[in-house]
Amino acid sequence: MSNIYQIAIDGPSGSGKSTLAKGVSQALGIMYLDTGAMYRTCGLSAIKRGIETKDEVAVAAMLEDMSLQVVFEDGTQHMILDGEDVTGLIRTPEVSRAASNISSLPVVRTKMVDYQRQIAAGQSFVIDGRDIASKVLPDCKYKFFLTASSEARAERRLAELNAKGDFSQNYEEVLKDIIWRDKQDSERAASPLIKVDDAIEIDTSSIGIEETRDLLLSYIKE
Ligand code: DC
Repeated sequence: MSNIYQIAIDGPSGSGKSTLAKGVSQALGIMYLDTGAMYRTCGLSAIKRGIETKDEVAVAAMLEDMSLQVVFEDGTQHMILDGEDVTGLIRTPEVSRAASNISSLPVVRTKMVDYQRQIAAGQSFVIDGRDIASKVLPDCKYKFFLTASSEARAERRLAELNAKGDFSQNYEEVLKDIIWRDKQDSERAASPLIKVDDAIEIDTSSIGIEETRDLLLSYIKE
């Protein structure tokens, strides 16, 4: 029997995926891959190069020319773009929008999904994203789909930004961004955000992160 745990956590932005995925990976002593960070790094690359994030031809040329690496240091994921560690630069509202646009392009998705499968191959991983259970690892054993109201997600996103000293947006703006990203991430043709039939759905609007983590772990340990 294989001892490899592959755990997919999908859901919209702000549903608590990354905090939860980190908590579950720590509890199980396995690695955590944040796939959103990869699309964010592609978005940052386009911004840096002045490339329109919806221009598939220009983005395809950029993908050929750029170097994007996921590196784990003491279990923590770092994003390296053209040799520079950009991990601290990919959480701004501007990069969030660029990531949402660029992630709708099939050329980007194909490349990132290949890389994600390569990273996860033969190893235990918690992986979060939008298409992990539907596309990246459809055969993985544990599939979770997190949801939460847009308002609860906007409050969390705002608290996250503020905690990092970013006060560039107010609640209304964050909420508007979340609703715009949800629409774009769910309605795109290429691997939209969907819940697969065999995923366990958890609404995190009113349950705390620790409670949600324990709930997830109870499913895994069953
Ligand atoms: O989870 P996040 O907010 O960091 O993701 C950033 C963007 O990348 C988001 O708009 C959706 C997209 N994304 C995706 O299309 N597929 C994934 N597996 C992860 C993220």
